[in-house]
Amino acid sequence: MSLQNDISLDARKILLINDKGNYTIPTNGLYPFQWNWDSAFAAYGFAQFDIPRAWKELETLFSAQWINGMVPHIIYHQVDDSYFPGPNIWKGIGPIPSSGITQPPVVASLMKKIWELDTDYGNDQIRLLFPKVLKWHRWFMQWRFQEGLVFINHPWEAGRDNAPDWDSALAAINPTGVAPYKRRDTEHVNPVMRPTKSDYDRYIWLVQQGRECKWNADWLRKNSSFKVADPAMHFILLRANRDLRLIGINLEEDISEIDSWIASLEKGASKLWNTSISSYDSFDLLNFNFAGSISSASFMCWYAGLYDKRMLTHYDRIMKKVKYGMPSYDPESKRFDRKRYWRGPSWAIMNMLIGFGLEEVGELKRASLLKAQTNRAISENGFAEYFDPIDGSPAGGNTFTWTAAVWLGWAKTMGGANGFN
Ligand code: GLC
Repeated sequence: MSLQNDISLDARKILLINDKGNYTIPTNGLYPFQWNWDSAFAAYGFAQFDIPRAWKELETLFSAQWINGMVPHIIYHQVDDSYFPGPNIWKGIGPIPSSGITQPPVVASLMKKIWELDTDYGNDQIRLLFPKVLKWHRWFMQWRFQEGLVFINHPWEAGRDNAPDWDSALAAINPTGVAPYKRRDTEHVNPVMRPTKSDYDRYIWLVQQGRECKWNADWLRKNSSFKVADPAMHFILLRANRDLRLIGINLEEDISEIDSWIASLEKGASKLWNTSISSYDSFDLLNFNFAGSISSASFMCWYAGLYDKRMLTHYDRIMKKVKYGMPSYDPESKRFDRKRYWRGPSWAIMNMLIGFGLEEVGELKRASLLKAQTNRAISENGFAEYFDPIDGSPAGGNTFTWTAAVWLGWAKTMGGANGFN
């Protein structure tokens, strides 16, 4: 059997090891509960060999949906104190103990792909999920959308926890009154690969702020101390709406509301363009400044269906500097840190989304280079949480669900122009 087939068997094993029956954990120890976008990727991974299990994953995720439509970023199906912050710190207000924020809405797009793999089986499932996903997207448009931009109320909401994009917005927060706490992440992973204490104090301070208002979405929209428009969130939601629209048409649902969201998000996208760095960038809605960040989020425009050729120059420049996929941050920036989480490492999920976008706009050579580099990172170094983009060394947690899912759903077949640089 070829090496690639062996890796595919290992990838399935990772999903099964992390499978808790109705949901999948990202990895044992470091992340022992259900995470929102991790679960969507897990479902896509399962769909490559077990379609019913894929739908079960999404169903479980939506069983935690709040009355206001939000789908939380962490769901604590079983409560234990192995993780910080746990449900008693968050005090989420949904039907299942949870955090109080959400994560990038990749569900609609991955759900559509899963459905396309077996439309007969998926028909009932997608019909059940459609109104729930619609309600979640409506929540975004109502509570996380302002001046044409999708914003986050917490760095963890972006899923790119310690990206340099949030540095100046976080620095403007004075985290006095943070109750003493003990981190658990640094018990599992070398601290140089994790966020700093200064960041962590502010993360927890923001959690306290949300908890104190009982996660009142209206209050947070007006008063949160952290409101940053994130290109990845914006582009992922735009893409998710396009896919939800197509699903809606198929189900003969009214899609006029989705059409209006798509129009607003398309219009707003141009405001994320920072002319001083010629790139899509994060924008701080409280302090009215751009972050000055060229990051993996900036390249999500193609995935959103915007064939913006201006980003190709940065893409080629950055890809010349790396061998293991798109780094989470521009390697030519002073803030680039090749080992530290979202400040430099390459993440398989981001590579896949950017790769989907490149394939769809017809940039096939560029897409296959990204796929080949992701394939190489995993083939050489296993199912790490993330990789050093320059030498490929594995970083963060291991036996990671979403890295295995990306292998099965995308990176295992190199196809096309198959070019390493
Ligand atoms: C980290 C990542 C986030 C992910 C979670 C679980 O917090 O930044 O994107 O969802 O881990 O894997």
